[in-house]
Amino acid sequence: MSILITNGRLITADLDEVTDIFIERETITAIGPSLPVTADTILDAADRLVISGGIDVHTHLDAPVGGTVSSDDFETGTRAAAFGGTTCIIDFAAQERGHSLPEALDTWLEKGSRATIDFGLHMIVTDMPEIRLGEITQMVERGVTSFKLFMAYPGVLMTDDATILRVMEQCRDLGALVCIHAENGSAIDHLVRRALARGQTAPLYHALTRPPALEAEATHRAITLAGLAHAPLYIVHVTCAEAATEVLRARESGLPVTGETCPHYLLLSTHDLDRPDFEGAKYLLTPPLRDASNHEPLWEALRRDTLQIVSTDHCPFFFVRQKLSDTRDFTRIPNGGPGIEHRMELLYHFGVLEGRIPLRRWVEVVSTTPARLFGLYPKKGTIQVGSDADLVLWNPGTRRTISASTHHMNVDYSMYEGITVTGGAETVIARGDIIVRNGIWYGKAGRGRFLKRSSSGVME
Ligand code: URP
Ligand code: ZN
Ligand code: ZN
Repeated sequence: MSILITNGRLITADLDEVTDIFIERETITAIGPSLPVTADTILDAADRLVISGGIDVHTHLDAPVGGTVSSDDFETGTRAAAFGGTTCIIDFAAQERGHSLPEALDTWLEKGSRATIDFGLHMIVTDMPEIRLGEITQMVERGVTSFKLFMAYPGVLMTDDATILRVMEQCRDLGALVCIHAENGSAIDHLVRRALARGQTAPLYHALTRPPALEAEATHRAITLAGLAHAPLYIVHVTCAEAATEVLRARESGLPVTGETCPHYLLLSTHDLDRPDFEGAKYLLTPPLRDASNHEPLWEALRRDTLQIVSTDHCPFFFVRQKLSDTRDFTRIPNGGPGIEHRMELLYHFGVLEGRIPLRRWVEVVSTTPARLFGLYPKKGTIQVGSDADLVLWNPGTRRTISASTHHMNVDYSMYEGITVTGGAETVIARGDIIVRNGIWYGKAGRGRFLKRSSSGVME
């Protein structure tokens, strides 16, 4: 099976040129103007951008959260991702307290066997005494080269600073990357208890009890610990100016600290969490949405390379069935929101078209840097001879209004309901298979492969 893409405007992190691209089976085998080849399928890409498929490094599919399970599994979630132009995800296997990392990996490989696009796994570490450290080495050998630790959710996911430091030292020695959820869980716990005692139960109190200062403090502490361990560090879901400033300071002092934000922190705010009649529950995710004054500083952080990646933290729950299953107070609402399908178009519309980030920076933050930082480059994240044929033909002029009635995610609401975006994925090719074309699905469950990632590329 071969595909020739003709006359597309090829955009990579460093190139912008009109050219042809030739794909044989799963791989890009030639790039150049007017390629003298014959192909089984010819795709005319005139007036289209041709970009490497998006890579979303932060998703929670089929994930147990707060007594329920996220509503997209690896089949529905990856299918929705593909409709939006994402051809690869990195999801999270989660260690159960007292259980081993290999057990968790086996569980998630089974879940992932339904994936429609290629996927990698990070490992969430909840419990890591000295005696278990060898399991981190085993994970790296099995292609899991990044580890997430939580400074929040005491009694559930939170690890203490000694554990974090121990894991950082082990990861440093293995060339693996520590990813930190940076919020001060103990202080938040105190604020939550006090709010509930005062009868402050509405979804908005989720944000008011997790203030930016406690994200910034934890970000600072994580950076301090990584500095002591001489370990690279990746801060997940940075939400606010204060936390971004901590990352900026670390980078200016030469530490290998990187970070991501998510479309919802760039575009939504506490105003959404404050919607009446418990509708705010749709926007209850962690860390919480912030005041809209944080939007421009976060865009600035993306522009200036303080933050390097935009992921979705996709963690969907049905509104009535799951989000509203217990409305006594905000602590009972499952944390998380849907977004895997819309990352590329939201970033293109509000980032590129509205002049906040240049076109090539868009490709960098949604595809190239995710591949580089998480050990997938140059197989993924770029368009080169020898790279996997993960490509998107992007129509820069198409207009679409986002709605739960038309999206492909398995969830009954959209956080972006009614927003009209210009630009979208028209043809999506994953390892040489055309899986989406003009809104029609051609992929299938189980075609996605588990990606054994190499040691993460440390980016300064
Ligand atoms: O609310 C969210 N983001 N749920 C998923 C867990 C996490 O902290 O990423
Ligand atoms: Zn998190
Ligand atoms: Zn998450």
